[in-house]
Amino acid sequence: MAMQERTQVGIIGAGPAGLLLARLLKLHGVESVILEARTRDYVEARVRAGVLEQGTVELLEEAGVADRLHRDGLVHDGVEIAAGGRRLRIDFRDLVGKTVTVYGQTEVTRDLIAARLAGDGPIVWEAADVTIHDIDGDRPRLRYRAGDAERELACDFVAGCDGFHGASRPSLPASLVRTFERTYPFGWLGILADVPPCSDELIYASHPRGFALASMRSPTRSRYYIQCSLDEKIEEWPDARIWDELALRLGSEPAPDITTGPSIEKSIAPLRSFVATPMQHGRLFLAGDAAHIVPPTGAKGLNLAASDVHYLCRAFVAHYTRGNDDLLHAYSETALARVWKAERFSWWMTMLLHRLHPEASFEAQMQRAELDYLASSRAAQTVLAENYVGLPF
Ligand code: APR
Ligand code: PHB
Repeated sequence: MAMQERTQVGIIGAGPAGLLLARLLKLHGVESVILEARTRDYVEARVRAGVLEQGTVELLEEAGVADRLHRDGLVHDGVEIAAGGRRLRIDFRDLVGKTVTVYGQTEVTRDLIAARLAGDGPIVWEAADVTIHDIDGDRPRLRYRAGDAERELACDFVAGCDGFHGASRPSLPASLVRTFERTYPFGWLGILADVPPCSDELIYASHPRGFALASMRSPTRSRYYIQCSLDEKIEEWPDARIWDELALRLGSEPAPDITTGPSIEKSIAPLRSFVATPMQHGRLFLAGDAAHIVPPTGAKGLNLAASDVHYLCRAFVAHYTRGNDDLLHAYSETALARVWKAERFSWWMTMLLHRLHPEASFEAQMQRAELDYLASSRAAQTVLAENYVGLPF
C-alpha cells in the first residue's frame, strides 16, 4: 500500500504556472503540494522568453515576488519593427498608456521557487510517473514515485501545470477534448551571450533572408533569435555564423550596433500554435502550456500562463471561502476567451514577420502591404500595442 498524503490542491509541474498558482493560493490560505518531474537545478537553469505584460507584473506583485523584478527588470515603453530598410517604433506608452518589463522567465521561476521554499509548502522534485485518478469523483488522487517509494496524494482538486508534454492533458477524457494546432515550416535559433544589447528596445526584423529578433536579459546580457529551417542542426551554426547572419538581417538602416561574444546558450526550437478545449473536466484543471502553446513572436507564453492562473486561483478561492463553484465551472470558458486572442496575436505577428513565400509571391506582397499600413496608421499601431502589452484579465 502506497504511503498516502493529503492536500487541498495537487499541482503537477513547477514551471511558472504551477509555482505562481501555489503562491497565490497560499496567500489566500489554500494549501497545495507541487509534484515536479525534474530537479530544482534543471528547472532553475531553463532558458525561456523574457517579456512580461503589465498585468503579469501586477500579478507577481500581488504574489509578493516582484522585488528583484522591480530592481533588475527593464521597463520598455515600446518595440521596433525593422522591415524594408526602415525602422518603425511602436510607442506603447503613447498609444495605449502601458509598458512591458523585460525580465527573464528563468528569474521569475527562481523568485517563485525561493518564495515557495521559504515556508509556503512542499515541492516534490523528481516525482516520477505521476498518474491522475478519480477526477470524476470528489476526491481525486495523484500517484507518483519518489526514489523507490510509491506515494499517493489525495486532493480536493488537481491543477495540471505540467507543460505541453505533461501527464495532465492526456488524462482528460479523449472523447471530450478537441485540439487545434498549427505548425510553422521554420524554427527559431536562439543565442544568449554576455554582451551589451544592440539597442535599448527589442527589434523585430523582417528581412528577405528571414526573421530576426534582438532581445535582452539585462544591460550586459543579450538574447538574439533568427528564423531557421527545421532540419538545421545547431552544430551547423558556430557563433560567428550566427553573428554574421544577425548583422545581415538586423542591418537595415539605421544599422544597430551589435556587440558579438561567445554564446552561453544556443538552441533551435520549432514554432507551434496549439489549443486544447475544454481546459477542465471534473476536478482536473489545466493551466499554461499544458493547455495551449503560442509561437514565441510576441512573447505571450508565460503571460498566458499567468492569466490562466489568475482565473483558476480566483475560482478555487471562491470555492473555499464562499462555497461558490460558479467560477470553477466557468474556468475553461473564461480562460479560453483570453487564450484565443493571444493565439490570434501570436499567429498574426508570426505570419507578418517571417519569410514564408518567395519575394515575388502574392503572400509576400500582402506582408509588405501590411507592414506599410502599420507604418502609416496610428490605428494599426494601436492594435499591435494593445495586444503586445497584454489584453486585460
Ligand atoms: N510530472 C511532473 N512534472 C512534469 C511532468 C510530469 N509528468 N511533465 C512535465 N512536468 C514539469 C516540467 O518539468 C516543467 O517544470 O512541468 C513543468 C511545466 O512548466 P513549463 O513547461 O514552464 O510550463 P508552464 O508552467 O505552463 O509555463 C508556461 O513557460 O514553457 C514556458 O513557453 C512557456 O513561457 C511559457 C511558460
Ligand atoms: C526573449 O527575450 O527571449 C524574447 C523576447 C520577445 C519575444 C520572444 C522571446 O517575442
